[in-house]
Amino acid sequence: MIELVARSEAMREAVRLAERVAATDANVLVTGESGAGKDALASFLHAQSPRAAGPFVRIDCAALPAELLEAELFGFERGAFTGATAAKPGRLEAAHKGTLVLDEIAHLPRDAQAKLLRVIERREFERLGGRRTVRVDARLVALTNVDLDDAVRRRAFREDLFYRLNVVRIHVPPLRERREDVGPLAETFLAAYAAKHGRPARRFDSGALAALGLYAFPGNVRELANVVERAVIVSDGREVGAKDLPEAVLAAAALGARRARRPTLAELEDEYIREVLAASRGNKSEAARVLGISRKNLYERLARQEAGAGRRAPDVSEKPVTDG
Ligand SMILES: Nc1ncnc2c1ncn2[C@@H]1O[C@H](COP(=O)(O)OP(=O)(O)OP(=O)(O)O)[C@@H](O)[C@H]1O
Ligand SMILES: [Mg+2]
Repeated sequence: MIELVARSEAMREAVRLAERVAATDANVLVTGESGAGKDALASFLHAQSPRAAGPFVRIDCAALPAELLEAELFGFERGAFTGATAAKPGRLEAAHKGTLVLDEIAHLPRDAQAKLLRVIERREFERLGGRRTVRVDARLVALTNVDLDDAVRRRAFREDLFYRLNVVRIHVPPLRERREDVGPLAETFLAAYAAKHGRPARRFDSGALAALGLYAFPGNVRELANVVERAVIVSDGREVGAKDLPEAVLAAAALGARRARRPTLAELEDEYIREVLAASRGNKSEAARVLGISRKNLYERLARQEAGAGRRAPDVSEKPVTDG
């Protein structure tokens, strides 16, 4: 597993909380947008816990229809339903002495919610179609990218189960709220994907870093990982450049660069003069009249613009950006 990157204060706070909870057996609810790193945090939590040597088991509550999900979670005895030709332990049993991650917990069906509540309260359950009581000792880590409090208010999720899962809540902030993590994450993925694909890429040039630093990453860390994997594959040398990044990243970054900087009055004037000149199709007399200045004054300003052109703000492809 890739090491958990946490350079930003927001992410370090989440990691510190995870470290403190790891030592206990408390159930944890991990919240955060899709791709933010909930799964990554859950495996970190397990690895830091006294259960690290025990099993780490996951189940995606959104991936299966209700009956199959229950069979997968609680296991079943032979003959429990058509097709159950042999008994099978579920993920809960598999997680004994370890950690069970319940991904997309909001999708857990009503019946399974009731059964899970009993597992938490009594630490025991029966397999589907079984009478024997199975005792289990597993720490539960539930993940959600939807507002579970709201699901409780709408009565789509049991309140009592919610409180049992939400003993400690850890929020993984979206990547756009912790820009300091973009660089270190990108470096980590670069090394990992270069090794995976046997590519020569070793570092980003400043243009690539600047663009990554300005892009909003609506798909969070997962999107960043995908962008870097692609860049590693298409780049030809040791350096990954802006040209190796997807058009969407470059376009959004260029826009961000313009917005991030407030233009000076002189720059605004220059821009307006160019606009009026373009509108009058280069006719300087007409442009001067529209601008309310003399032709001579306009010529002087244009000469100054010409001379200053080399000193205008560089664009993102050549300027590294540090974000505050
Ligand atoms: N802080 C981090 N350090 C290193 N890698 C990370 C970090 N956060 C996320 N990743 C990696 O980014 C990818 C996406 O993260 P993850 O699967 O944990 O997101 P998620 O929040 O569970 O998303 P979803 O809600 O879509 O399941 C994974 O490959 C994960 O290993
Ligand atoms: Mg996930």
